[in-house]
Amino acid sequence: MQGRRRTPLPQTQGLETRTGDPVLSQRLSDIFHLDEEDNQELIDGIHAVHPYPGRMHPLWARRLLAELPEGASVVDPFCGAGTVLVEARVAGLHARGNDINPVAVRLARLRVIPPPDPDRLRVVARDCAAGSVKRRETPFSALAQGEKDFAPHVLATLIALRDEIEGATRGASGTGPQAVAAQRLREGLIFSLSPLLDKFSARSDRAASKVSPETVCKHFVERADRWATYFEAMATYRYAEAEFGDARWLPWKPGTADAIITSPPYPGVFDYVASQARRAKWLGETTELVTASEKKEIGRRSGPPLWADDMVIAVKQMARTLKPGGILFMVVGDGVARDGNAGNVAIFADDVLVNEGERQGLALTAMVSQTRPHFHRHSADAFGNRPRQEHLMAFRKV
Ligand SMILES: C[S@@+](CC[C@H](N)C(=O)[O-])C[C@H]1O[C@@H](n2cnc3c(N)ncnc32)[C@H](O)[C@@H]1O
Repeated sequence: MQGRRRTPLPQTQGLETRTGDPVLSQRLSDIFHLDEEDNQELIDGIHAVHPYPGRMHPLWARRLLAELPEGASVVDPFCGAGTVLVEARVAGLHARGNDINPVAVRLARLRVIPPPDPDRLRVVARDCAAGSVKRRETPFSALAQGEKDFAPHVLATLIALRDEIEGATRGASGTGPQAVAAQRLREGLIFSLSPLLDKFSARSDRAASKVSPETVCKHFVERADRWATYFEAMATYRYAEAEFGDARWLPWKPGTADAIITSPPYPGVFDYVASQARRAKWLGETTELVTASEKKEIGRRSGPPLWADDMVIAVKQMARTLKPGGILFMVVGDGVARDGNAGNVAIFADDVLVNEGERQGLALTAMVSQTRPHFHRHSADAFGNRPRQEHLMAFRKV
């Protein structure tokens, strides 16, 4: 371990610890460092098209990608909404992603594969908004079943919009060019509607929004415009891939990646699949698929305390996917698991990953760790004197 220094991170003011190669750990420290204004990246620009929990900071992805040699092939086994994939497109690198959350994969795909025509998206979104005032019986009325988190007229408008989207993209079944164009358009429209589900629903800290149907439609059209602008901004960059699958069983051939840049789930912090269950329903995903995905989700807050066991398997898969000499950059935080008799147990992510990495031929070359605050008493109690940290780790495949 080397010297510690205070890093003025927004919100956290975390103490920083560096490990390993002094030059590389200095570089990692520079990459990990964020100033207040860096958060603007999350508010506008290419990463502000759609929300997703626990996203990697785009600047971390961008700066890590800049460390790779020209023409490198990069993968992200926990790609979420596709931050690394999108940044890899901009950097001109070949990128492949994977995630167990079907909502994440559809969102990531929309951001990295050939998109709908932006002008048509804008026009059809306006048509859908105009058409949504005509109320009629629709198969999407079923979306209202058991739904208590929306004001009734807001829910009715969202359902009418969903129905309009389906009507506007009727030719979407099949594989011909027109069907594919309709599928892309539908995906663009659905993901323009999807952020409204968060915006207008009740949450533990907020009542359901009672905005007018016109306001709901205005937000829908704004979202479609935002997507269209994104598609235009990304038009000249190469496409990427996003697969639906379990990181403990990666779909890629062994030794096919020069680099992995990823941020796995932190232990016990989020329930990614459950948090997107409503959205999945509106996207037309089946309850069976959502339930099956949830069971495979690593480290979920409400799940069994198996993060370390599952990550051991995922590390093995990552090692297998890398070429010899390939690099693995990983951003991960410590967390807490609720372990039956033992109560809350602190999980130190770096201990687990460094040990398993070594066993799998992944040598830790450098790491920076910054302390993070505890948001809950049970977490502070579980950690005791050792700080909770977030780590940026670099491994080299030997
Ligand atoms: C920290 S987030 C990654 C966010 C992503 N870097 C981004 O910027 O959107 C962790 C991701 O791991 C995914 N995940 C959890 N268990 C998984 C598993 N067994 N296989 C693949 N992905 C999994 C979650 O669905 C979530 O999207």
